[in-house]
Amino acid sequence: MSEKLWGGRFSSATDARANDFQSSIRFDARLYRQDIAGSVAHASMLGRQGIIPANDAAAIVTALKALLADIEDGKAEFSVDAEDIHMNIEKLLTERIAAGTTASAAAADTSAADAGKRLHTARSRNDQVALDLRMYLKDEIAEITGQLAELVSTLLRLAAGHTATIMPGYTHLQRAQPITLAHHLMAYVEMYLRDADRLLDCRGRTDVMPLGAGALAGVTYPVDRQFVADALGFPAVSQNSLDAVSDRDFVLELLSCLSILMVHLSRSAEELVLWSTLEFGFIEMDDAYSTGSSIMPQKKNPDVAELIRGKSGRVFGDLFALLTVMKGLPLAYNKDLQEDKEAVFDAVDTVRLCLPVYTQMLATMKIHKEAMYLAAQKGFANATDFADYLVKKGLPFRDAHEVTGRLVLHCIGEGLAIEDLSLAALREFSGVVGEDVYDAISLEACLAARNGVGGPAKEAVEAAISGAAGRLEALRVSLSQIKPQKE
Ligand code: ARG
Repeated sequence: MSEKLWGGRFSSATDARANDFQSSIRFDARLYRQDIAGSVAHASMLGRQGIIPANDAAAIVTALKALLADIEDGKAEFSVDAEDIHMNIEKLLTERIAAGTTASAAAADTSAADAGKRLHTARSRNDQVALDLRMYLKDEIAEITGQLAELVSTLLRLAAGHTATIMPGYTHLQRAQPITLAHHLMAYVEMYLRDADRLLDCRGRTDVMPLGAGALAGVTYPVDRQFVADALGFPAVSQNSLDAVSDRDFVLELLSCLSILMVHLSRSAEELVLWSTLEFGFIEMDDAYSTGSSIMPQKKNPDVAELIRGKSGRVFGDLFALLTVMKGLPLAYNKDLQEDKEAVFDAVDTVRLCLPVYTQMLATMKIHKEAMYLAAQKGFANATDFADYLVKKGLPFRDAHEVTGRLVLHCIGEGLAIEDLSLAALREFSGVVGEDVYDAISLEACLAARNGVGGPAKEAVEAAISGAAGRLEALRVSLSQIKPQKE
């Protein structure tokens, strides 16, 4: 038998460099569990359908399970010569059964010794790799969504403690109107809950069983696709053989979901970097999540936040790499598709690395409420409320805007806040101003007035927190209902 499992048609060996070049075992070895589980289900089906002898199917299943244990114990070695994980597993299995290393092959009958060679009946690596990747990503998506749930739960806890922690809200990075830290954190809770939704939605479309599509046009054996789907915990089987082996939408979709998630993480990370500067002074990272400088002894750098911001770039890169690979690819399978793996593995690894460290960094940072309050007091964050006060006293909004603008200009010149001016001084700008103005433009009043759904007032934010807690609970229920994938 030729060295290669497909060697029959070839009269000379693959060039060593070309062999290394096209081999994917370096990065697809991580699919060994899914590959073995898929083969166990496939072999069982072949035996049940009488496509291969039942005792060969049993020998394959036993040997695959033993092989899995050996791989996990580091007792099996993969080689580049066998190209990819699929052929490595098949080769090891075939050799082991032939060598009689497993109980069932001990019976010295040639058919049993050949059992391993029957595994690939009615299957192609094209449908096999699609199956393995779908199974792998289903698990990764559940993992990442679980990490997101932890992040949301940490944010909810933080927010609940800061519904009265006043800070400036910004537009154009200029102090704009007063909000609370809780309100700001809850903006991210909304984003992360949508990220989780998107991921589970994408998981649903990943949850389709492609085996039976063969190389591209189905198989000629009486396979039972539903049996394989049930055995592996898939709710559906693919409906077009060409699509099943060449579709990578589910990978692109996951990369998009992860990219959007990284956008959210990087925006928040950037804010934390800003907030931890001397200029802002809103927060201080815990020592455990900062590093020093090798030359400047005074430095405490928010490296973790910076690195999360930076790592978003590689996840976007992974998405673009695969979009570019897919664009213009004719149906059905092309070897280009092998490039999907490094991209998506890098993206899931990166996100799985970022989420827990980010969550811990948030949970441990120190929050300087006074600095936040001071910043809210200083930047005329109540100017809109002063204008609104004038409107409530009868001025048209445009006039109120103009009057307040002139007042702010005056205050800037004097180095004062609006509320520092006497009633007489304020009345110079508009006769409608009365004693009640001071209560109307206090930071606390500005916030309390914004009590509509989605607003920053304490009760509105408390309602948002309890609504989000309910959605988090529902997310956790969905996650707990995800069936563990069978071996
Ligand atoms: N290693 C290949 C991949 O990752 C498996 C499928 C190969 N199929 C083929 N006909 N060469 O896509």
